[in-house]
Amino acid sequence: MHSSGPYTNAYRTSVDNPERFWLDAARMITWDKPPTRALDDASKPLARWYPDARMNTCVNALDRHVAAGHGERTALIYDSAMVGMQRSYSYEQLLDEVANFAGVLLRHGVTAGDRIVIYLPMIPEAVIAMLACARIGAVHSVVFGGFAAKELASRIDDAEPVLIITASGGLEPGRTISYLPMVAQALELTTSTATRAVIVKRRAQVPGSAADHSGDIPWYDWDESMVDAEPAAPVSVAATDPLYVLYTSGTTGKPKGVVRDNGGHAVAMAWSMRFIYNVGPGEVMWAASDVGWVVGHSYIVYAPLFVGATTVLYEGKPVGTPDAGAFWRIIEEHGVKALFTAPTALRAIKKVDPNALELRKYDVSALETLFVAGERLDPDTYEWASQVLRRPVVDHWWQTETGWSICANPRGLEQMPIKAGSPSFPVPGYRLAILDPSGHRVPPGTEGNIVLELPLPPGTLSGLWHDDDRLVRSYLATFPGYYLTGDSGFVDTDGYVYVLGRSDDVINVAGHRLSTGGMEAVLAGHPAVAECAVIGISDELKGQRPSGYVVLKAGVEIEPERLRDELVERVRDEIGAVATFRDVTIVPALPKTRSGKILRKTMRQIVAGEDYPVPSTIEDPAVLDQLSEQIHGS
Ligand code: COA
Ligand code: AMP
Repeated sequence: MHSSGPYTNAYRTSVDNPERFWLDAARMITWDKPPTRALDDASKPLARWYPDARMNTCVNALDRHVAAGHGERTALIYDSAMVGMQRSYSYEQLLDEVANFAGVLLRHGVTAGDRIVIYLPMIPEAVIAMLACARIGAVHSVVFGGFAAKELASRIDDAEPVLIITASGGLEPGRTISYLPMVAQALELTTSTATRAVIVKRRAQVPGSAADHSGDIPWYDWDESMVDAEPAAPVSVAATDPLYVLYTSGTTGKPKGVVRDNGGHAVAMAWSMRFIYNVGPGEVMWAASDVGWVVGHSYIVYAPLFVGATTVLYEGKPVGTPDAGAFWRIIEEHGVKALFTAPTALRAIKKVDPNALELRKYDVSALETLFVAGERLDPDTYEWASQVLRRPVVDHWWQTETGWSICANPRGLEQMPIKAGSPSFPVPGYRLAILDPSGHRVPPGTEGNIVLELPLPPGTLSGLWHDDDRLVRSYLATFPGYYLTGDSGFVDTDGYVYVLGRSDDVINVAGHRLSTGGMEAVLAGHPAVAECAVIGISDELKGQRPSGYVVLKAGVEIEPERLRDELVERVRDEIGAVATFRDVTIVPALPKTRSGKILRKTMRQIVAGEDYPVPSTIEDPAVLDQLSEQIHGS
């Protein structure tokens, strides 16, 4: 770590005097009742931030900028490459839309603390719906539009929403995705009877409307509801009240409902905009992600608006909509200062346009920094992006649970040298350590479990929905006093952190976090499958992709091609196309421990062609040789 400088000073204060650090940072937020305390760790190992403060997230995102005379500034630019349309909302206009939609929610009987599931494509209504929930203290749970009915159903079951907000559909290159049949199917699959109403946004591009659906619950039309909407006033909530639940993949098929509070989240978001992204009022931030992921929550919706910046909501892909110049066009047209994307998007552009000829057609001089996260930034992609853009490419590492960066090169604080392959240093507030399996700290350069000493800073998960026991079991029990990130890595002698990959069964496909356990449950449901394992294997474009290994039931005969097609279809139907599940290998047996646990890590090593130790607990070592021979032919 640097021995002196703004970063080191901030980091030291955050560790030595977190009360002072986080009370200072809290000044970036407008409170109804300002905090007199930062940390409340009375219910250790869980922590709460700003326990005596009150505020409203929507007021911080919108009202306060309008009240300060900046209502004319652009808050949101919707740029759809899919429909060839752009639309800007000033802060004043966005506030009007949000207050009116919050009024619609009140009319439907929604009250503070109620959950609302939002299942929408990348359209402004997604942002409006999220902020409207925040305005009245309702808790939103956004489900990524690429997830199919069953995934939606499991989230509805867990969140027990009173209302679902959805659209007639989304647009993917060359096809439309009809959401309404998926929502209807999800509702049939759920045991939750709580849903009272569904509001549908009709789109000219995707047929389907409220009128097409009937059934147990009433469906309402967004546009019609807004005609006579009464604007709702913001509700003051406790800083510790939940703002949203965002489901993310864990080791098992059951997603984890990460809960984010209001106050700590607002402070962390505002702090990160200034000190990590170096973006302030009137400047443009574009996170090329989806509102269904944490990156979308934090850096499409909340953080840019908290600081009065402009955010870009892009409906399209980096390539093919229409070409590999899409990102550069947006930077030029909207004057983007900070772009945030996933390495996979850069690899997609590089593959189509390796010499970045498209880039020459655009003036990208507004771009100060390219930020990347979501998966490991491989040095080749880093070098390519740095060379073609000729500006800093800043890797930063975080996860849904933390909501913002654990490690970064905080450009607004101090511009420290970048090392390829490293997301640089722990961000102030995060006390990072690398532990060996027995919980001892390892020396620099040695790989181990990346953990964070408790308490975690503001903005990180304040619980798991309905299941704080699971939070303790999943993250806090392995190494008491530490949060287990699930990633492994090392710190070099200069203090730079290197994140090498997950040490559990979570995989990251094209920047989308997925559970192999969820896919295994789908494969196991096929009548021909006796048992199966899904592991993540390396993929040149998507970073990783899932690969399935199945053992057939005794006596079953099925063409491998047919089985593969049926399993692929099942995963698309039950999880969604986004799983990118295509590889199926039929094997005679799976390597297991004597207690029946499938040795997935050893399988990963075999498939990758790495040396692997034969686990001492293995049931039948011959299965490993068999697998290796089948995969590598020797
Ligand atoms: N709704 C419905 N389907 C979706 C979807 C959505 N919102 N998003 C993706 N899909 C579908 C795709 O159409 C594709 O379907 P197909 O198998 O029929 O072709 C499938 O899911 C796989 O999608 P993906 O892996 O995203 O591939 P892609 O070819 O559509 O796009 C990238 C590739 C690299 C452009 C894209 O994955 C990307 O931009 N990734 C970055 C992810 C990200 O932002 N992560 C957040 C961290 S920053
Ligand atoms: P998600 O919760 O979807 O944001 O996914 C989080 C996971 O993505 C992390 O636990 C890492 O495995 C991976 N990840 C995210 N950002 C990075 C990064 N910059 N470098 C390496 N891995 C990353």
